[in-house]
Amino acid sequence: MTITQDNSAPLVAVVGATGIQGGSVVRALAESEKPYRVRGFTRDPAKLAALELAKLGVAVVGVSFVVDNKNEAYKAFAGADFAFLVTNFWEHVDFDRELAEGKLLIDAAKAGGVSGIVWSGLPSLSKISGGKFPHAWHYESKALVTEYGRQSGVPFVDVQTGMYETNFLNSPFAPSKQADGSFVVAFPVKPTTVLPVLDAVRDYGLFVRHVLELPVFPNGAEFVAYEKNMTLTDLAEQWSQGTGKNIVLAQIPVEQFKQGLEGAGLPPHIVLDLSEVFLVWDEFGWKVPPIPQGLARRPHTWADFVKDTDWSKVLA
Ligand SMILES: NC(=O)c1ccc[n+]([C@@H]2O[C@H](COP(=O)([O-])OP(=O)(O)OC[C@H]3O[C@@H](n4cnc5c(N)ncnc54)[C@H](OP(=O)(O)O)[C@@H]3O)[C@@H](O)[C@H]2O)c1
Repeated sequence: MTITQDNSAPLVAVVGATGIQGGSVVRALAESEKPYRVRGFTRDPAKLAALELAKLGVAVVGVSFVVDNKNEAYKAFAGADFAFLVTNFWEHVDFDRELAEGKLLIDAAKAGGVSGIVWSGLPSLSKISGGKFPHAWHYESKALVTEYGRQSGVPFVDVQTGMYETNFLNSPFAPSKQADGSFVVAFPVKPTTVLPVLDAVRDYGLFVRHVLELPVFPNGAEFVAYEKNMTLTDLAEQWSQGTGKNIVLAQIPVEQFKQGLEGAGLPPHIVLDLSEVFLVWDEFGWKVPPIPQGLARRPHTWADFVKDTDWSKVLA
């Protein structure tokens, strides 16, 4: 099936369509047997990723979802049946801005008259840790947006994302080479720590499509998109097997982890944010519900991702 222009098909308006999550949503809808119209937002309709979307049949709309562009934002969802919403904390690393822009997206989707919102949230690590770790800003802001969305009066579903497997291509997740030729990924967590991993590029959209194709839009539901709960030990073992390199997950003290982040030039509030994320995973775990039954296909495994990824720069 391809994306249709037929007005009888539901229109899904996708924020972040040129990015990892939104792009995955667009491709999942394009793969579906059911027809969809898709409106994809970008700030730059001339960029390559936007031109690729247009080739798929996506109606590409240029708009910036920032608070001083409220009028344009409110017009963007007009006529859409469903909205997929995501914010990109890492572009600005600002808690207040992510919260404000997340709320703006919900207000704009509501103003456009959509009958369902799918939002990419994250849980409050402060709540999970009983207040012990309150500084994981990019989780807290998303959790507050989720609360706002649930009170919006528009049917609202949170489809959270597990750990992107692509994280392991970049600092602070990418391995560093040791003198003996092995590679080490060093985190302040036990190697038995379990993480829900996801090939977000290929599979996040599967979960959003699943929500949109349920017989009744599951207002209030929360899903986590992931393929498997994996210990870091298993992850390293399969990574080694798939690449022929010796990759080890090492536990380091949090202070050493923080020094590494500081050394990479991250600002202090982000050093604290990322450190607390790992400390919560270590002490409280990343607890996720079962993978929903009835996904349109199985998500890719970590072994698939290892096999299909070019590691030549990371494992050089
Ligand atoms: N890495 C992980 O393991 C992980 C796990 C869970 C959640 N997350 C969350 O994922 C989020 C990022 O999502 P992603 O990976 O899909 O991001 P991404 O690939 O970097 O793409 C960001 C998208 O957002 C759009 N965008 C950003 N600011 C915009 C604005 N002001 N107006 C309109 N569009 C805007 C961009 O569009 P244009 O640039 O084309 O305008 C682009 O399509 C982050 O908030 C992060 O916390 C990450």
